[in-house]
Amino acid sequence: MILFKTTATLQHYLNKLRNKSLTIGFVPTMGALHEGHLSLIKESRKTCNITVCSIFVNPTQFNDKKDFEKYPVTIENDIFLLETNNTNILFLPSVNEIYPGGINKLQHFDIGYLENIQEGKYRPGHFQGVCNVVFRLLEIVNPNTLFLGRKDYQQYLILKKMMQQFYSTVNVQAVDIARESNGLAMSSRNMRLSNSAREKAAILNKALHFIQQNLSVRSVDELVQKAKDSILENGFDEINYIEVCDAETLLPVTNETKHKQLIALAAAFIEEVRLIDNIML
Ligand code: PAF
Repeated sequence: MILFKTTATLQHYLNKLRNKSLTIGFVPTMGALHEGHLSLIKESRKTCNITVCSIFVNPTQFNDKKDFEKYPVTIENDIFLLETNNTNILFLPSVNEIYPGGINKLQHFDIGYLENIQEGKYRPGHFQGVCNVVFRLLEIVNPNTLFLGRKDYQQYLILKKMMQQFYSTVNVQAVDIARESNGLAMSSRNMRLSNSAREKAAILNKALHFIQQNLSVRSVDELVQKAKDSILENGFDEINYIEVCDAETLLPVTNETKHKQLIALAAAFIEEVRLIDNIML
């Protein structure tokens, strides 16, 4: 694996590969890598000649300063995991490389109502930060395919929308959620949980499955209420949202509709760590 820290050296190298007609897959990350990230790397390796991974803890997507400060940094282990999973290139930029004009001069992306619902409602400014960093990373890497995890489903929809406008030639491929054996969605934030909270946190996914299994016999409102109750009774301290939505628009639905693909999404806190999850219904 070759490590690049500057845009100029990375672009020079990637141009040489492009001239040899090699295809480039890109996996953007904030580090603290786990099986979920590695499944994106594996997917990229299956379909592209060269896999580039970036590690950059993007300050502009954290609405909560404490969350940014507590974000786990495990660079040595990350490099080990990327190497053992045959990643070709690691891009490890500084803040200046990504934001040459400074982090206070963000571009505004028109992502419509998606910016203010679910994650956006509880993390104001988050998706503008995500769009800014991914826009810049795509400008630098110029890949054939971008790989994104389905755990951040709203992020995936928003980035797809941003890319239709600015990077319509780059393919976007969503990769399924990697889970612990108890069903807990893998996340860099899980590292901040005690062993007992990690066990208890599986209730988030179980509650979404409960909604899935009972959708044809109970109302959405009733199911969401029961899911919330069981999450709070089993170790979570606070729920931001549990919603059943149209998977294309993320607008909430109140009744099961046979013609639409529905998704159940959740965000809740355990041991002050905010976890999210979703499943298709
Ligand atoms: O999903 C993430 O890890 C981040 O939001 C991303 C896409 C790497 C942008 O910082």
